[in-house]
This record gives sequence, C-alpha cells and structure tokens, in this order.
Amino acid sequence: MLRTQYLGLELDSPLILGASPWSLDLDVARRAEDAGASAIVMASLFEEQVCAAGEALTVYPPERAEFAVQPDEYLERIAALKSVLGIPVIASLNGSHKNAWLSYAALMDQAGADAIELNVYRVSTDFDRSAESVERETLDMVRTVVEATSIPVAVKLQPYYTSLAHFARAVVDAGARGLVLFNRFYQPDIDIEGLERAPRLELSRPSELLLRLSWLAALSPFVRASFAATGGARSAGDVLKAVLAGADVVQLVSEVLAHGVGRFTTIRRELVEWMTEHGYPSLACVRGSMNLSRALDPAAFERANYLHVINSWRAPALRQ
Ligand SMILES: Cc1cc2nc3c(=O)[nH]c(=O)nc-3n(C[C@H](O)[C@H](O)[C@H](O)COP(=O)(O)O)c2cc1C
Repeated sequence: MLRTQYLGLELDSPLILGASPWSLDLDVARRAEDAGASAIVMASLFEEQVCAAGEALTVYPPERAEFAVQPDEYLERIAALKSVLGIPVIASLNGSHKNAWLSYAALMDQAGADAIELNVYRVSTDFDRSAESVERETLDMVRTVVEATSIPVAVKLQPYYTSLAHFARAVVDAGARGLVLFNRFYQPDIDIEGLERAPRLELSRPSELLLRLSWLAALSPFVRASFAATGGARSAGDVLKAVLAGADVVQLVSEVLAHGVGRFTTIRRELVEWMTEHGYPSLACVRGSMNLSRALDPAAFERANYLHVINSWRAPALRQ
C-alpha cells in the first residue's frame, strides 16, 4: 500500500531517515530499518573535510575538523551500513565549490552506496558574483558528480533562488534524478552579553513544512524528477501533506532525534489508517493530488493565495 519509487529505487514506504548523525550509527540504522524506515541518508561528507576552495585534494587532519567521521572512515561506513542493512543507503556529499573534493562521489559509488545526495548549501555574500555565475558553478558540480558515478544523484537545495523553477529544471537537465526540498537555513543568533555569534541547532517545527509544500506543489508536476521533502515533517499528517503536494518520499530527522526510531512504526501505521479511512488503495493515488498541475497560471495562483492570506487577518480589539 505504501510502496513508492525514489531515484529509481523501489521503496517499501515514503519514510526515510534523513541525513543526521544517527544515520552513521550502525546500530541505530539497523533499528530504524526494523522500525520501518525504507532508506537512509547518511550524514554528509563535507567539502571542508576534504579540501578548501581552490585547493588540491587534501584530507584535513582530524584536529582541524570537528566531524564525526573522516573521509576514509566515511567510505568504510558506507560498506558497513550496506553489510547490515537491506534498505538502500544514500551517501551525502556537502559543499559549494566545484573542485577536487567532488571526486569522493566516485569513491562513494565504489564503496557500495545506492545513491548520492549532493547538498549544495551555500550563502553567497560575494558582491561581485552574480546569481547566474553562482548557479552555473552549482550546475557544474551536479554534472561532475553525475558523470563520475553510475548511481542516481539527488540534489538537496535551498529555497532562496530568484527563479527556483528555472533552476530546479536546470539541475535535473544537468543529470540529477531527484530534488530534495529543502535545506534549512541555519542562521546564527547573537549573544548580546558575550557579543558573539551564537550558532545553535534547534530541531524543526511543522510550520517549516509549509514552504516545502508550496514548492513541491509548484515543481513536481512540471519537473521530471523524484521529489523528497525534508524540513518540518513531524507526524503522519505532515508526511501525507508532503505526498499530497507531490513528494515521493519524506525524510525524517528532528522527529526521530526527539522521539526515537519507533516513530517510523507509528507514522507508518497512521499513514495506512488514513489511507484506508479515505479510500486510497495506494500511495500513488495520494501523491500529487494537491499539486498545481491544474492551475492555469501557478504564479497567479500563488499571488492570489498571498492576497487571500494577507486579507484574511482580522485585527483584534486594540489593547491599551
Ligand atoms: C543534528 C543534525 C545533523 C544534520 N546533519 C546533516 C548533514 O550532515 N547533512 C545534511 O544534508 N543535512 C543534515 N541535517 C539536516 C537534516 O537532514 C534535515 O534536512 C533537517 O533536519 C530538516 O528535516 P527535519 O525537519 O526532519 O529535521 C542535520 C540535521 C540535524 C538536526
């Protein structure tokens, strides 16, 4: 009933353990599989672990890095996860420059990964660099990884592009088989006593899912690729919303970190209950039924939605 396809992989359900430290842990990964996760995305191997922008391939010594595993260990971990799991293992590469570090993609393929998730998290603060030039480098990265490997590649994007629809299609034209929507933007807070930037990782909230739903609905009918939702899915209802908007799979991280891998079992059961109650025989019948494929002009639809939301607010009685 819950079967789905993602990046050409046949999965038992749309529930994936997303990139996080737990997906590097053999014991947790095995327990996630037992609880009903249909695939795992490993925590990332970062560009900064392998080489700095413009540098040749140099593995940083551990004292310079605060990372859970070093690059060679990462490759060994892929093989170890493959040996204990029956579900697909998706390795993750994370960086923003096109240079030698991307050669790890081929090594991940050789180590047995079933797919690669390329995370292109980038905050562009260079006043001399145009959006087009930044996007061109990202597309070059995608092409490099796709050409170096025989396994499918998904690209984990940020939402902040001036023309996301155009860029999403370009990423797929560059060879990506899937899009992962979206990276969370981790902005540091400011500590007003210590006068320091205070980076702090907080788990996601369901309200973050809304941005994902809008773009899944707008992109999935028109871009020939698999779609994964990540960010704000905390319940079976959230997973259903993402699938209704067009997601093939939903990655769970915060919910699993907060409440354990048992959440896969509960959410899976609740998905089946909802589908039975609402007369859906398969997930394929649910997927995309709330997307924008029937909107004559999706941009005008979004604009109308914006005006509707703005005008729906009613002022409370004025407080003195
Ligand atoms: C502790 C932690 C570590 C993470 N590490 C990675 C990572 O290595 N690579 C990556 O692409 N995303 C990473 N993420 C982001 C998650 O994969 C996910 O996109 C994000 O948490 C939103 O999903 P959620 O709402 O289910 O938590 C991490 C998230 C957390 C909470």
